Amino acid sequence: MKKNALLILAVSLLLFSNSCYYDSLPPEDDIEIPPDATISFEEAVLPIIAKYNCAGCHDGSLDPDLRAANAYDALVPDYVVSGNAAASVFFQRLPGKNHPPVGISLSNNEITTIEEWINRGALE
Ligand code: HEC
Repeated sequence: MKKNALLILAVSLLLFSNSCYYDSLPPEDDIEIPPDATISFEEAVLPIIAKYNCAGCHDGSLDPDLRAANAYDALVPDYVVSGNAAASVFFQRLPGKNHPPVGISLSNNEITTIEEWINRGALE
């Protein structure tokens, strides 16, 4: 009996913590980019890089160079496999993913935007 009670407690704690994880996503964080829309670096990705001041560290002394004038050429093609976000180091190593902790967390919309920018050809 006691074992069962512990099991039920463990399972409900697990379910509870899981639902908290999903509940914590901001509700507006679910953009849908129309499938035929083109996404340009200038318009969609550079503003994200600027917003988080990535160039504060990636200033030419640390690769990739994310200063506005250099970012596109620094990323494509060395860090971006056009058409394949999953295979792109830029996408794999965004802050919050496989990046040293720097106190930056991109929203899901921003991550989706970058992912779709790469998957749709990494246009300038
Ligand atoms: C506080 C400093 C700092 C900030 C701010 C920062 N980074 Fe980094 N970034 C680093 C360091 C340190 C590394 C690790 C370099 C290494 O692994 O050799 C790194 C690594 C990376 C890499 C992998 C580079 C490679 O060669 O594999 C990418 C991609 C990257 N950062 C993107 C970004 C983006 C995009 C932002 C802004 C959203 C950002 N970083 C903000 C310090 C920073």
